Amino acid sequence: MTAQLLDGVALGQKLRAGFKQRADELAAQGMRPGLAVILIGEDAASQVYVRNKVNACTQAGIHSEKYVYPCDVAPQVVFDKIAELNADAKIHGILVQLPLPKHFDADSVLEAIAPQKDVDGFRAENVGALMQGQPCFIPCTPYGAMKLFEAAGVSLKGKEAVVVGRSNIVGKPMAMLLMHAGATVTVCHSQTSDLKAHCRRADILVAAIGKPKMITGDMIKPGAVVIDVGINRTADGKLCGDVDFESAKDVASFITPVPGGVGPMTITMLLANTLESAERSLNT
Ligand code: GUN
Repeated sequence: MTAQLLDGVALGQKLRAGFKQRADELAAQGMRPGLAVILIGEDAASQVYVRNKVNACTQAGIHSEKYVYPCDVAPQVVFDKIAELNADAKIHGILVQLPLPKHFDADSVLEAIAPQKDVDGFRAENVGALMQGQPCFIPCTPYGAMKLFEAAGVSLKGKEAVVVGRSNIVGKPMAMLLMHAGATVTVCHSQTSDLKAHCRRADILVAAIGKPKMITGDMIKPGAVVIDVGINRTADGKLCGDVDFESAKDVASFITPVPGGVGPMTITMLLANTLESAERSLNT
């Protein structure tokens, strides 16, 4: 079998065209949606992600502001900027690109963002609301994965879903969303014994580990839907996912490519959350 591609570029473009219209409608009412992105340090991958986020805002008619600080910036400088942005009516979403340099306590930085501007959905209020199935900002990567399932007509009810990785950014919220959608969810991680046995049972397999090509075709149930969240760089400088695409594509029914799968959907859902935040603020 050769799997069908879950194309995040195409779905992202389709959704973003609708966002542009919504952003322009809001602007016509005197409110252009706005996102502020904070980048600390010189991490090469983060620089690319932030540039892509800002460009995507421009294309979708969303105002954006970028604040870049050196690795050794005093945390108070960042806290002061977040406080300023919390009070700024032009800004509806604030994103601090992770990971942060070691001298920062990421939790306290994220908690400094006003809950109504937490378009990453990383604050405790949003995490709690997601767990309870209440309205919230859904973290962008798992939100994007859910949109890919929806667009491909993949039903999740009653399915065995396995999420490999237990991060706050992807693994945990992904598991929660799959559970709410009716899947039976297993979360695997670095201490899981017999990862292969768990993966082989999965109708839906989400790989969010951060290890290049760790999930190979022999670990995948024939016909499974595979979402690859990983973005890794090989020794020869090429991008690859956490899934070994070459062997997986002959086993899976659907699979996301890297690049071009989950990555563009993460950015798309950041735009969606920023728009939603702006619309909410208009209605309050
Ligand atoms: N680093 C990797 N993914 C993300 C994300 O979705 N949001 C933020 N803020 N940082 C990230």
